Amino acid sequence: MAICHGVRTDAGTAQFVKHPLDPLTAEEIAEASSILKSQRALGPRVRFETIVLKEPDKKDVLGFRNGAPVRRHAFLVVLDNDEEATYEATVCLDEGRVIDWKCIPGVQPRVMFEEFAECEAAVKADPRFRKALEKRGISDPDLVMVDPWSAGNFGFPDEEGRRLVITRNFLRSSPTDNGYARPIEGLSALVDLNKMEIMRIDDYGVVPLPPEDGNYAAEFVGDFRQDLKPLEITQPEGPSFIVDGHSVSWQKWHLRIGFTPREGLVIHTVGYEDQGRIRPILYRAALSDMVVPYGEPGKDHYRKNAFDAGEYGIGSLTNPLTLGCDCLGEIYYFDAHLNDGHGEAFTIPNAVCMHEEDYGILWKHTDFRTGKVEVRRSRRLVISSIATVGNYEYGFFWYFYQDGTIQMEVKLTGIINTSAIAEGETPKYGTIVAPQLNAHIHQHFFNFRLDMSVHGESNTVHEVNTVAEPLGPDNPHGNAFYAEATPLKTELEARRVIDPMSGRYWVVSNPSVKNVLGGHVGYKLMPGENILPFHHPSSSIMKRAGFMAKHLWVTPYAPEEMSATGSYPNQHPGGAGLPEYTKGDRSVDNTDVVLWYTLGYHHVPRPEDWPISPVAYCGFSLKPVGFFDTNPVLDVPPSMESNGACHT
Ligand code: CO
Repeated sequence: MAICHGVRTDAGTAQFVKHPLDPLTAEEIAEASSILKSQRALGPRVRFETIVLKEPDKKDVLGFRNGAPVRRHAFLVVLDNDEEATYEATVCLDEGRVIDWKCIPGVQPRVMFEEFAECEAAVKADPRFRKALEKRGISDPDLVMVDPWSAGNFGFPDEEGRRLVITRNFLRSSPTDNGYARPIEGLSALVDLNKMEIMRIDDYGVVPLPPEDGNYAAEFVGDFRQDLKPLEITQPEGPSFIVDGHSVSWQKWHLRIGFTPREGLVIHTVGYEDQGRIRPILYRAALSDMVVPYGEPGKDHYRKNAFDAGEYGIGSLTNPLTLGCDCLGEIYYFDAHLNDGHGEAFTIPNAVCMHEEDYGILWKHTDFRTGKVEVRRSRRLVISSIATVGNYEYGFFWYFYQDGTIQMEVKLTGIINTSAIAEGETPKYGTIVAPQLNAHIHQHFFNFRLDMSVHGESNTVHEVNTVAEPLGPDNPHGNAFYAEATPLKTELEARRVIDPMSGRYWVVSNPSVKNVLGGHVGYKLMPGENILPFHHPSSSIMKRAGFMAKHLWVTPYAPEEMSATGSYPNQHPGGAGLPEYTKGDRSVDNTDVVLWYTLGYHHVPRPEDWPISPVAYCGFSLKPVGFFDTNPVLDVPPSMESNGACHT
């Protein structure tokens, strides 16, 4: 069994505000809510959904010089359960006053962690629910797990305007048993979270509980393989990065770490040092939202989809990480300071992990005539966080490579969503992963907002496709093919999907900055494995997560446009976010552009995904293309082998 060693944290340094993009400290979070409570007549049943740094204007951030005073504004979202109303506030922490306070009609803030627990208790106490359990032979409600999922929006008149979740219920056989092995099929509660009362119990009839346990925890497994020898990663002189508050420099990279309850990890102001200056690449990068739509149409399963950022706040569900288990090597951790429903601060220790990894070969050549070998080892900086959203885990890993490449890798693990099926039945829309246990087909769609600044704020986007030249006078032997760049000048032109067969990628370049060869400096967005949704355009989920329909979206920078699904996706009827932002077809030519990349992971469950899924990976990368004048890693020194230099 793995032994977890001690941890080191950034405690002490994180409480310092040095830069306008530093996340709110725990003290600032508590201060923001107390200022709001003292200056506005908040009701007795108010929940604080968000208390987060209101990021200053971009020009103020870019013009900031170290040591200058830092202005601090907090942005808050509060839900009044009695009024069933949502309010947004801006609090100036410097002056200790509320500078903006407004009611936002017709929206639902995301489902908060406190609501999970209260909802579970309310459902378990409901006599109708208990009776339905008894019908299924379940006498001990303490072993029942009640997972609330947002009810979504299907246009049902009796649900309109109500803050609703639908529960998915499971039964543990003991307190640490994996309850997802025994879904209580055909039973759900529709719960009004404002009133914290059960609106309705739906019972579609009894399906027997699956017979087998699905335990993966060490105490249940016991019989471990014996042939793993220790693998230790040591850096005797320490890591090569330098951390100052939330500022990180490593090799030639310079960036800042941020964190929000909704998005989780945020990377700010990424630049690469070249010829004595830091050249900007990205102003801000983060997950903007994500959704997991399922493909089973029966009973109430059609409602099953989860916007894990916009509906549940994936940042607020982030794991505290453990050295030697989550992260191996010389690790630096950043804590995350967030708010609870009462407006008090809480801290997720070690929420963000940062370390260096050997990444194999950076480049190599052997001169076969002389036998001379030149080889360099590659190293990458890894900045990551992992969140648990109900049954699933998501890891978000940003990699920075010495050659200027930036990569995002999503790691998907945890427990697949399950339902029970009668013995002998074969599901059409799922996979049997254990006897009488059905895992529905589904997809995971992530959208990353990439506020680009390739050597400055004025950027242009091109799509590059590789084209086969037709046979003819220019191509008499039929071998000709070439890469063709097409400008994407407006938002509607820039709604694009991948095309692996044409080697499609998208380049963000700066039309006013040329490299030594006369080309415009640029970075390309390289898609990886990807897919489109299978849902009908008229379906609720395609309206509510319209971003899934395109892999690339480009918008001109607008500070209020932060999410592919809009500001309040929970129970939103649809159309918000990217479809709305882009419908005006604004120009994205030679301006401050934001790329939005949709990443789809297709999940046809396998028996091997049960009882816990080995990590699945998906992602994309940003790669310099003419950003540098030549290979930027010639200056990486050769490494030494124990028996001498590896270049001979
Ligand atoms: Co999955």
